[in-house]
Amino acid sequence: MTDDTIIKMDMGAVAGRRSSGRAILCLGIESSCDETSAAIVDSDRNILSHIIYSQIPEHQKYGGVVPELAARAHILAIDEVINLALSRANKKLADIDVIAATAGPGLIGGVLVGWMAATGIAQSTKKTLVAVNHLEGHALVPRLCATAADDSKTDINVEFPYLLMLASGGHCQILLVRGVGQYELIGQTLDDSAGEAFDKVAKMLGLGYPGGPIVDAHAKLGNPRAFDFPRPLCDKPGSDFSFSGIKTAARAFLGKYNPPYSDGFINDFCASFQASVVDCIINRLNNAMKTQIVRECAPKTLVVAGGVAKNSAIRNAMQDLAKRHNMIFAAPPMNLCTDNGAMIAWAGIENYRAGKVVREPIAPRPRWPLTEL
Ligand code: KG4
Ligand code: ZN
Repeated sequence: MTDDTIIKMDMGAVAGRRSSGRAILCLGIESSCDETSAAIVDSDRNILSHIIYSQIPEHQKYGGVVPELAARAHILAIDEVINLALSRANKKLADIDVIAATAGPGLIGGVLVGWMAATGIAQSTKKTLVAVNHLEGHALVPRLCATAADDSKTDINVEFPYLLMLASGGHCQILLVRGVGQYELIGQTLDDSAGEAFDKVAKMLGLGYPGGPIVDAHAKLGNPRAFDFPRPLCDKPGSDFSFSGIKTAARAFLGKYNPPYSDGFINDFCASFQASVVDCIINRLNNAMKTQIVRECAPKTLVVAGGVAKNSAIRNAMQDLAKRHNMIFAAPPMNLCTDNGAMIAWAGIENYRAGKVVREPIAPRPRWPLTEL
């Protein structure tokens, strides 16, 4: 890999917040799926550097992430990504207080690469090590940086407790976030995640991988009422999701038409599919807000996080819902929604401040629910 490849992935610094001069400096490393990323973040919420090497082009021809290829690509990229994060922040390892890395959940080959790199650095430099749960990275990143639905530069402070819609490629959960390591599951998907539904529908249409951003772009141009997709579970109480029925409906609709599909057809199809996902999310969140546990806790902020949080229709609908419930809506800026090292560095800082650091060697976990922190 050339330096050039990585430089293209430099997300730049987001500094400018006042520095207390006593800030904790954390190197965060993410490698649980198809992004190798490292960032230097301080406890005053400045992102000093942020490097993401995306493997998407390497997996595109297979229509999804190939775990073996991902692990190998992480090995090839990790040293350069970490070194670049340090040099872009004008820091040496000696300046860093905390080393944090994703220790799960995720594709274990990739997780191992980042985790072993972090462990090696921490042991050789005698720095504090934090094992970050990838989902907690997504869940806490709005406290590093959050905006309104339109990704404006407004800096929203997200305080505990908050109600979180966590929607990524592997997970779809509604959680009550009471504090670092304190998550209560209010609802979750019974089958596919929202991201998976986007990816599978894109694949059926022959649109490529990852499907979410492509479907989102087509949906903006289409008619959301052109196809009558189901809204699974929306006539039932509770906050659980089911997306497999939407996927089956997509397959059934497509069985009636022969490819190649026209642009107009694809736009209408994506818009109609996306509208059903949005309606399900709003219906389930609305129910979540009425549960006793959420009412008693009375969170002031409704938050979306995870890769699917990039979807503007979902962001806008959730912002409207928050308004109706007198809540503030907050979302990470677009470049902090999908997997990234800055969210791991921030979760590292939050865990370090809570005293949750690694004291004995631990094994990374391919499965690691947030409720087991
Ligand atoms: O959080 P993430 O980067 O990885 C996991 O932890 O899984 O999420 C990736 C998922 C993919 O399924 C991708 O299709 C979806 O996020 N995604 C989107 C959008 N951008 C990414 N889904 C809907 N609309 C988008 N704009
Ligand atoms: Zn993720």
